[in-house]
Amino acid sequence: MSMELVVHDTPETMAAAAALRIANLINEAESSFSIGLAGGSTPAATYRALVDLDVTWDPVKAWLSDERWVPHDHQRSNGRMASEALMGKVNESLLRPRWGDLLDPRDSAADYEASLRSIHRNHRPDLVLLGMGDDGHTASLFPGTAALHERTRWFVANDVPQQKEERLTATYPLLWQAVNIIVLVVGAAKARAMKESFAGTTPAGRLDEGDAKVQWFVDDAAASLLS
Ligand code: 6PG
Repeated sequence: MSMELVVHDTPETMAAAAALRIANLINEAESSFSIGLAGGSTPAATYRALVDLDVTWDPVKAWLSDERWVPHDHQRSNGRMASEALMGKVNESLLRPRWGDLLDPRDSAADYEASLRSIHRNHRPDLVLLGMGDDGHTASLFPGTAALHERTRWFVANDVPQQKEERLTATYPLLWQAVNIIVLVVGAAKARAMKESFAGTTPAGRLDEGDAKVQWFVDDAAASLLS
């Protein structure tokens, strides 16, 4: 599959366009719509724009494409960010990995995978939203980490030395089977990683190696090194 690049002049116009695309995909769904929500900070503007659009939320089953190993109410929690930015639109349906200070992240990831497999028993994920770090990581598939090589499990705990906390992340087998992937990237700090990703040399640059249609929604600054 190729990767489609959609460039908008500012982060705001990118967020508005991405929200419209997401709303259209959700509203086209006949029955249920499975969406993997991106973490980090970039997606918040798109989530807020999405809340203002006319979306049929009932069929939506939301989950997280990755999560930091922190309590659900921690300010670094992706689930908390997504739930707040989407202003409760997915609260009932948002599936979040279990956290507990006595819980092993690997057990939480295995439980989460089992839940994801039951949601997607005979149904590909309809849409996975992702971001990209300035090192080209996506979800919590960081360069040089073990999760990059996982080809069986859909969700794993990943030790990321370059990050403060352990991560739980979707793996390529899960991402590659999505119908659609949308990657949301803004800012000049991401320009080099964008160039490397479109050369296929970063974790985010491998998103097109499966069956998913991959669209990148970016702003001019992030696209500034792409020919
Ligand atoms: C996370 C995200 C991660 C994020 C990138 C970009 O848990 O941090 O899943 O992959 O998308 O790090 O983060 P920003 O949007 O904050 O630049």
